[in-house]
Amino acid sequence: MNIGISKNLPSTIKTIVIPISETDLKTIDFQKIAQDFGLNDLFFKDDFKGELGEVQVIYGSTAKVILLGLGKKMVFAKILKVFRILSKKQVKFLSPKLGLSLVHGSLNETEPKLLEAAINGLFLGIYKIGRFKTKEAEAHPFSNEEAQLHILADDNPTLQQASHNGKAFATTQMKIMDLVNAPSNKKLPVDLGNWARNSGEEWDIPVEVWDKQKIEEEGMGGLLAVNQGSYHPPTFIIMDYQPKSGEAKKTIGLVGKGVTFDTGGLSLKPSAGMPLMKSDMGGAAAVLGAVEMAAKLQLPYRVVGVVPSTDNSVGSNSFKPSDVINSYSGKTIEIIDTDAEGRLILADGLSYMVKKYQPDVMLDLATLTGSTVRTLGYHAAGLFTKNYELRDALLEAGDAVGERLWPLPMWDEYHEEMQSDVADIKNLGTRPMAGGITAAKFLEFFTEEHEQWAHLDIAGVAFADAEFSKQKSATAYGLRLIIEFLKSLK
Ligand code: BES
Ligand code: ZN
Ligand code: ZN
Repeated sequence: MNIGISKNLPSTIKTIVIPISETDLKTIDFQKIAQDFGLNDLFFKDDFKGELGEVQVIYGSTAKVILLGLGKKMVFAKILKVFRILSKKQVKFLSPKLGLSLVHGSLNETEPKLLEAAINGLFLGIYKIGRFKTKEAEAHPFSNEEAQLHILADDNPTLQQASHNGKAFATTQMKIMDLVNAPSNKKLPVDLGNWARNSGEEWDIPVEVWDKQKIEEEGMGGLLAVNQGSYHPPTFIIMDYQPKSGEAKKTIGLVGKGVTFDTGGLSLKPSAGMPLMKSDMGGAAAVLGAVEMAAKLQLPYRVVGVVPSTDNSVGSNSFKPSDVINSYSGKTIEIIDTDAEGRLILADGLSYMVKKYQPDVMLDLATLTGSTVRTLGYHAAGLFTKNYELRDALLEAGDAVGERLWPLPMWDEYHEEMQSDVADIKNLGTRPMAGGITAAKFLEFFTEEHEQWAHLDIAGVAFADAEFSKQKSATAYGLRLIIEFLKSLK
């Protein structure tokens, strides 16, 4: 779908969306709307309240007008959601030639970020979850090559950029949603590697995908231990984006948990929730997507994404509770519970990142603990860092794009829970408490005291209830958050 911007509506466009917030209802010039689109009378305006997600369709003599309610406060995440629902759920009213007015309603040229949200949402409405259904679903009007979205506004570079970004984000978000929604038999660790390779080819990003032999040579003991019970070899994926023009202002290291399925290993999970564990690579998806997005937007930073990937399965050679394993850092780990596997592969990813790239800022994203889900539910990811400046910057970025975070403490007292009698550290705390925090303290042990490191536990938010699926599905959480954070860096 192409996007055009001008004050004059092309004659081909007969369907136009006018977004209106509840608070603006009194000041909207409905007379002008009626005149511009040949609406016969103004009765319609009394029915429309501007409530969040409200849709009223009015058929005029020259166009069909869709009034779209934006609710009370116009914030990025709500606008994105309303437009996504319009695009997905009210698809019968839409057309491959669609207008979006920035002159008649509440969205206008002064807030390009909200236009970006609207376009992001419209494009996300194309997303279909049933990739493996044999009967082809009906095509969305926007997925047509000839489709056109026309923004009714005075053309200017800021609006062009906003609409371009809205579409660009949606495209990468849908790609990573496909990854997270895919069942584990369709996304082996090599497939994550191929995703990265393809993205690298498309966006000119150097990519390395290590195979098992190379992982053994490098001594990635955490990744290899988790992989021991699996039929499928692990991969270690590196995407290394560097700006084309000028020197990178900073190096940002991103590490993502790429467990393609988490059975728990010998510390087997109960079967009820197990299908959800195909989403245990949600951190990897966010990281791979963020590097792609950084390249698309040509951000002035080097952004290195590292993803250790394996499934956590049960096999005759599975690693066992009480085993002592080695890690890339040289530190030894006593295994208490094979279901605490994410931290083992991240330990290797984090120490590799620090040693090889010395990033100025290092973030890891992982569907790491059920404990954090029980603490924060589905509305925020857990944020773990000792650096208060970094904490505030991340909180602000998350709020701005509606991918919320909430901080939990990282005091050293929690580390005592992780002390082992037989190795340098154990992979599960002694007492069943503060599981999200003790997991973060475990990771910290492998960061070489990096001063600008934050861990994001996204277990509750990567895969969630949505209006678009009967069961939980991928959210693309983290992609927008990371990019917003990068843009805020000085
Ligand atoms: N992948 C899970 C965490 C998870 C839980 C992700 C819920 C998404 C939704 C992780 O590997 C895990 O199994 N964590 C265990 C750790 C426990 C053994 C200490 C947990 O949190 O229950
Ligand atoms: Zn687990
Ligand atoms: Zn896991």
